[in-house]
Amino acid sequence: MKLSYFHVPEHVPLDSIPNTAVVIDVLRATTTIAWALNNGAEAVQTFADLEKLRDTASSWDSSARLLLGERGGNRLEGFDLGNSPVAVTKNMVEGKRLFMSTTNGTKALSRVSEAPNLYTCALVNRKAVAERIINEKTDEIFIVGSGWEGSYSLEDSLSAGSLASYILKKSDCEIEVCNDECLSSIALWESWKDDLEGCLRESSHGKRLASIGNHDDDFECCSDLDSLEIVPTQSEMGLLLGA
Ligand code: MLT
Repeated sequence: MKLSYFHVPEHVPLDSIPNTAVVIDVLRATTTIAWALNNGAEAVQTFADLEKLRDTASSWDSSARLLLGERGGNRLEGFDLGNSPVAVTKNMVEGKRLFMSTTNGTKALSRVSEAPNLYTCALVNRKAVAERIINEKTDEIFIVGSGWEGSYSLEDSLSAGSLASYILKKSDCEIEVCNDECLSSIALWESWKDDLEGCLRESSHGKRLASIGNHDDDFECCSDLDSLEIVPTQSEMGLLLGA
């Protein structure tokens, strides 16, 4: 099995998308997606483009939809929810389709949407995603961090390292780590694995979130390793179902 990590979607070589891609945006899109599906959302439909989101959502029964929109860490005006994983409670999302657009996470998803197997991963469902990949015995995997507007993000690389490290330890296949980004994500995981919340708070996006309001619950939720069994899986372009 070949394992590569790209810390921003712009680095993914589009001419060679493998069978399996895993998108990570720990703070907070892929944590929110995992919690929404875990709490019974019918599906999460993701959009890089806001106009397309509004058009598609408008054809959906208003009692069965929720609009989630975030830019710069803040909820977008006119949207039901922002991007907090603690806001997608069972009460709020059960049975509903969530139409979602965020600053970086949904862009990363659209970059690799052609992959036949596309999953989203965060610290909360790292083990579940890793086990799925191990069981599928896929030839090649791209792990894709969302970064921040084209720049490296510490927390996505931490989570990529947690996933790669689990696969390396538990898989009985021979694993080839194919790039330095993947190797360094594993080293990052090794140095922060006992203080995940500390790492999230230390990251530049963690500091951004802290500067715009109290996000203590989000930090706690996003660093709760292996707490969910859900594997958000793309079933058709941009549409994620829980599995
Ligand atoms: C993103 O997509 O960039 C993030 O999820 C931002 C956020 O924390 O809401």
